[in-house]
Amino acid sequence: MTLPRVLFLKHMQAMANSFCSTFMISLALLVLVFGIGNANASLSTNFYYSSCPKLFDTVKCTVESAISKEARMGASLLRLFFHDCFVNGCDGSVLLDDTSSLSGEKNAAPNRNSARGFEVIDKIKSAVEHVCPGVVSCADILAIAARDSVVKLGGPTWDVKLGRRDSHTASLSAANNGIPPPTSNLNQLISRFNALGLSTKDMVALSGGHTIGQARCTSFRARIYNESNIDTSFARSRQSTCPRASGSGDNNLAPLDLTTPTFFDNHYFSNLIQKKGLLHSDQQLFNGGSTDSIVQAYINNPSSFFSDFATAMIKMGDITPLTGSKGEIRKNCRRVN
Ligand code: HEM
Ligand SMILES: *[C@@H]1O[C@H](CO)[C@@H](O)[C@H](O)[C@H]1NC(C)=O
Repeated sequence: MTLPRVLFLKHMQAMANSFCSTFMISLALLVLVFGIGNANASLSTNFYYSSCPKLFDTVKCTVESAISKEARMGASLLRLFFHDCFVNGCDGSVLLDDTSSLSGEKNAAPNRNSARGFEVIDKIKSAVEHVCPGVVSCADILAIAARDSVVKLGGPTWDVKLGRRDSHTASLSAANNGIPPPTSNLNQLISRFNALGLSTKDMVALSGGHTIGQARCTSFRARIYNESNIDTSFARSRQSTCPRASGSGDNNLAPLDLTTPTFFDNHYFSNLIQKKGLLHSDQQLFNGGSTDSIVQAYINNPSSFFSDFATAMIKMGDITPLTGSKGEIRKNCRRVN
């Protein structure tokens, strides 16, 4: 009989929850003092103020424990939010599994063998469902998890706007067309971001997300063998784990920031002025063009990078959310209800 097992699991869950809620009471008091009610259809930072007061602690606890197990997970969660927002808005579409009637985004070129962190999102979702069932969208969980990841790895914080709802659909083709490939040139990067209401400065600041995480050989092979605006010894050292022949070592990883890949800092930009950007698209930001001065500013003044990154993350989170009665609150982030 499974009863003892169920009881054991419930006990473990209760322990995990009490551990996660250590600082809950003081935070709830802060929210009480500073929270302001708001029920309109646009996003707001206090959207779940009364419907799910434990939301922020619950997400943070799970994110932090996942990152303690594997620091890269913070990078993976940040990227998932970007890949969600750039495809028909921040609507949790990237989280949907394929079904017989749905070709989802997980198998689109930018995501296949690459996007990760879905199990962590599942874990957060079940913890959140436990404290306030049927209330919080997967799209909002992704937005909070991205922020908490950046903070945990040493980056800036910001107030996450909430109230997104989850899509009923996902789009393989929109993911293939909407997420910029690493072969993009500067004009393509600028126009892709501009089309979504993000400025050139937002684009450069958000690219600073590549101060954490890893890329596969297949994403940077052409750059390390064929490009001239690359530091020679850097190229050689990357070539040692990324063979020239396509098909061999395609999934071998290298850090996007060669100096501190598990720390959110401005080293991504200092790499660029040394021609040590890993992706073709990274080096495009410092290649004699209009964005060189932004890169230089973020090197000279790390706090301007932090504040521009936070501002741009909020703007990216505003891309065409489903609000009001549109979409749904998924029970399971992998499928529509
Ligand atoms: C500017 C256009 C961008 C391009 C062309 C681009 C491209 C890429 C590529 C090719 C990878 C490696 C994927 C792989 O080989 O598996 C990657 C990883 C990553 N990207 Fe971007 N990206 C862009 C913008 C962004 C933005 C806006 C963010 C977040 C703010 C972001 C966050 C990340 C992170 C954190 C990783 C590492 C993920 C991990 O280690 O799991 N990227 N990106
Ligand atoms: C380098 O460029 C040449 C000529 O365009 C191409 O044939 C070759 O496949 C490229 N090599 C890599 C590793 O991308």
